[in-house]
Amino acid sequence: MCNSKITFVAGARPNFMKIAPILRAMRPYSRVVKAEMVHTGQHYSPEMSDVFFEQLEMPAPDVFLGVGSGTHGWQTARLLESFEAHLLGSAQPPVCVVVVGDVNSTLACALAAAKICIPVVHVEAGLRSFDRTMPEELNRIATDAISDLLLVSEPSGKDNLIREGVSPHRMEYSGNVMIDTLVSQLPMATALDTPAMLGVADRAYALVTLHRPSNVDKLDSLLPLVAFLTKVARNVPLVFPVHPRTKLKLEMFGLWDTLRSEDNIKLCDPLGYRENLRMMSSACFVLSDSGGIQEETTFLGIPCLTLRPNTERPSTVVLGTNTVVGNDLGYAQRLIAEICCGTYKAGAAVPGWDGHAAERIANLIINRFVETAQNEFAAAEAAL
Ligand code: UD1
Repeated sequence: MCNSKITFVAGARPNFMKIAPILRAMRPYSRVVKAEMVHTGQHYSPEMSDVFFEQLEMPAPDVFLGVGSGTHGWQTARLLESFEAHLLGSAQPPVCVVVVGDVNSTLACALAAAKICIPVVHVEAGLRSFDRTMPEELNRIATDAISDLLLVSEPSGKDNLIREGVSPHRMEYSGNVMIDTLVSQLPMATALDTPAMLGVADRAYALVTLHRPSNVDKLDSLLPLVAFLTKVARNVPLVFPVHPRTKLKLEMFGLWDTLRSEDNIKLCDPLGYRENLRMMSSACFVLSDSGGIQEETTFLGIPCLTLRPNTERPSTVVLGTNTVVGNDLGYAQRLIAEICCGTYKAGAAVPGWDGHAAERIANLIINRFVETAQNEFAAAEAAL
């Protein structure tokens, strides 16, 4: 009999590709546990949210909190308040709440659950950039501190948690669910003609993504990046799907028209999951400040230059095809020359990035929380 429920939380673009494979891996257990999905509404535009539900074949959310955008404090407070109200108003409280990644929804929902003593599972635990100016780093540290089960996606994660004094009983190395989604979507992505539609040829362009506040929010950091992209585009056409935050800032600083007037820079709206995967997999290289793209390019063996001073995913550098270039754009240009003449590093596989992380996660959660809940339920019924 299905007398347990687990609540899965997703709110922003990078959450959807992490939750999708876990929800799928939960299906075989649907007779013993209901998987409830809560979409917080942190991201709400069709191209930041709906397209992921369609392409990743996710069920419509059971609950939509509709929180929307605002300052960090405002957004986190709204998320905390709305998710707590949802949990308290549920006829059947979940046996645990599963949060993924490092966005504001991750921390707020973990905190709401922990405060009312509902166990929290954090998928992608232990990542550390050691840069507390990043909002995501604070979200990671705080979420890990209050979670009951920490599921680690990359080798450095366990070391970081041990250094922070986390007991080994609270953590498991699950591998990387983002790669599960990539593996399952790659055949559909490969069949698309996205490069041609964007006016570039396979292997003859670079893909650009930028959205970190530290890169785009201030003119001092955005202007040199725009100048750099213009310079790179003299030799390699660039495709740049522009995040809403970045578009807003480019327009605000009068840089949108500068980029748009460059023939070799193709600006477009944020791409769907499959279109983005298609563009990554046949790019000559990728320039990005994203976290997930560092992992995806490493899996695909595509060179990635990370336009940030640090990474919370060091395996992508040590084993993979990623290089952290920070704001040393001269270094980035030397690496681009290496990539173009074929001498850039090739990269190797990261343990547990194998397309099966979600199955391991579902198994761990069921064993840890659902069997306990079933036993408690049976004991309570027997006592009646
Ligand atoms: C958030 C995450 C970041 C993640 C990124 C991926 C946090 C702290 N940051 O940053 O870790 O890498 O998402 O996209 O949670 N906006 C829209 N449509 C939307 C969503 C946002 O237009 O669907 C606009 C908002 O009006 C806002 C801006 O984009 O001005 C930023 O959105 P927000 O969720 O605050 O942060 P992101 O920069 O997207």
